[in-house]
Amino acid sequence: MLEIQGIRKTFNPGTVNEVRALQGVDLTIEEGAFVVVLGMNGSGKSTLLNAVAGSFYLDEGRIRIAGQDVTRWPEHRRAKLIGRVFQNPFSGTAPNMSIAENFALATHRGKARGFGWALSRNLMNPLRDRIAGLRMGLENRLDHAIGSLSGGQRQALTLLMASWLKPDLLLLDEHTAALDPKSAEQVIALTNEVITRDKLTTLMVTHSMQQAVSLGDRIVMMNRGEVLHDFRGSEKKRLRPEDLIERFNQVRAREQLDESAAEMLRAAYI
Ligand SMILES: Nc1ncnc2c1ncn2[C@@H]1O[C@H](COP(=O)(O)OP(=O)(O)O)[C@@H](O)[C@H]1O
Ligand SMILES: [Mg+2]
Repeated sequence: MLEIQGIRKTFNPGTVNEVRALQGVDLTIEEGAFVVVLGMNGSGKSTLLNAVAGSFYLDEGRIRIAGQDVTRWPEHRRAKLIGRVFQNPFSGTAPNMSIAENFALATHRGKARGFGWALSRNLMNPLRDRIAGLRMGLENRLDHAIGSLSGGQRQALTLLMASWLKPDLLLLDEHTAALDPKSAEQVIALTNEVITRDKLTTLMVTHSMQQAVSLGDRIVMMNRGEVLHDFRGSEKKRLRPEDLIERFNQVRAREQLDESAAEMLRAAYI
């Protein structure tokens, strides 16, 4: 379970580069829920995930993961509760290390060091099975450097690693956006399978309306650092991509109206 209460974050406060990236977000995600986060560029989606992961401290508000208040925890401490996959296939793995070594590192997350990087035999077998299940022909290449694989193969492996220890929270930030359509489809299918099978509490950012309507239990729509709408239950089930586009267009029209009103006011006072 993830509980976000009244979080605010302003970057570069008091300067010309000031950005109010999060302007009071409240969000509770029940254990095992799969929530898709949608919003235009710059609406604060990545900042929301980064706030949860602890990439920076908040200006205001509190964050709880699995009942623990992590608001003051540094990023590395929260990492024990969180699995993450980023947009860039080059993030999150060590490119010069082999697939097996990367898994050994990932599965030692949060545990004492000193086990060495070799995979124990009782981990190697389930790992080989899981990787064979990807049907990417990687099960016989466990000693190959991860850096030699394609973006889609890397994202699939990164996702397996991030979810291997069944984290209390899985954070996915447009993790298929940099892939070709076919690889993106494969990684999305794997994502859905892993989350559903292990009932992982998940926040997944996407800008694909199609992904948003076809995946997950809930859609949180963000705009200008706030939650604009939370589609859940039967409303979420009925939702079509056109409904989401319509909603975005309404927001845009309203903001343009606000801007032209402000413009008229400014003009009237000159
Ligand atoms: N570390 C940072 N420093 C300064 N500004 C940032 C930083 N991170 C994000 N921003 C700004 O905050 C706003 C929200 O960004 P982001 O959360 O990345 O949007 P999204 O992921 O929805 O596209 C943007 O205007 C962005 O430029
Ligand atoms: Mg982003």
